[in-house]
Amino acid sequence: MQQAIAILDSGVGGLTVAKEVMRQLPQEKIIYFGDTARTPYGPRPAEEISRFTHQIVDYLLQFHPKMIVIACNTATAIAIEEIRARLTIPVVGVIHPGARAAIKSTRNQQIGVIGTEGTIKSSAYEMALRQISPQIQVVSLACPSFVPLVERGMFRTDETTRVVEESLSELRNYPIDSLILGCTHYPFLADIIGSVMGSHVTLISSADETAREISTILYHKGMLATSNAVPVHQFFCSGDPRLFKSIAQTWLNEQIKVTPVVWQVPNII
Ligand code: DGL
Repeated sequence: MQQAIAILDSGVGGLTVAKEVMRQLPQEKIIYFGDTARTPYGPRPAEEISRFTHQIVDYLLQFHPKMIVIACNTATAIAIEEIRARLTIPVVGVIHPGARAAIKSTRNQQIGVIGTEGTIKSSAYEMALRQISPQIQVVSLACPSFVPLVERGMFRTDETTRVVEESLSELRNYPIDSLILGCTHYPFLADIIGSVMGSHVTLISSADETAREISTILYHKGMLATSNAVPVHQFFCSGDPRLFKSIAQTWLNEQIKVTPVVWQVPNII
């Protein structure tokens, strides 16, 4: 099947999922949308996050994708069921794959979750983890300062190290052996988060497991790409396209073209 996989996020975070999809499924074309004009989603009310997610999905549907990937934990937590109910194509989120990967990783059944305020408030990870393994102990923490740093491209600065150290200091008191990066932006800060938490804590990014789920669904539905041609991916963002491009090219390690999108709906922000 030659149609693309559409991937969306509030900004550059979903590129962590896109990169893994490109690695695991190199024949698949990706259409990526980062809503950088309205990032971060984390502190916004659920109704707004849901409205924005529907709006991006509507935008992406014009390209007739074969699948929608909500590569944003906050939007997955709040809107995935509504989006699934509306569409006939598969809709994949990032929370269940992340939870599965953490259960596979933990040895002592003590798992930490960091995410945006919206994701942590929703308790979506606790529910997903306990659904698989009811005896699991979960400690959750919102880290609202991380996404703005990533959106500014500040992956390795002293300020970022200071903010990560401060934000995670309390979490270090818990005997967790696995930490879910419950926001797709956080793998950009994995080096710093890893050194703050220590080598006894395994960091779990949902990207690998989400790409595996995408692969499994496409295989079982007979929807995998059949062409051997190298796909030309498309990238859209609603904010500054130069900043998006520079972060995306560094992360993906390839040259890309970015098309800016200006939301036409009044009072949308
Ligand atoms: N990357 C998103 C997530 O996984 C959203 C971050 C935000 O915009 O606050 O939750």
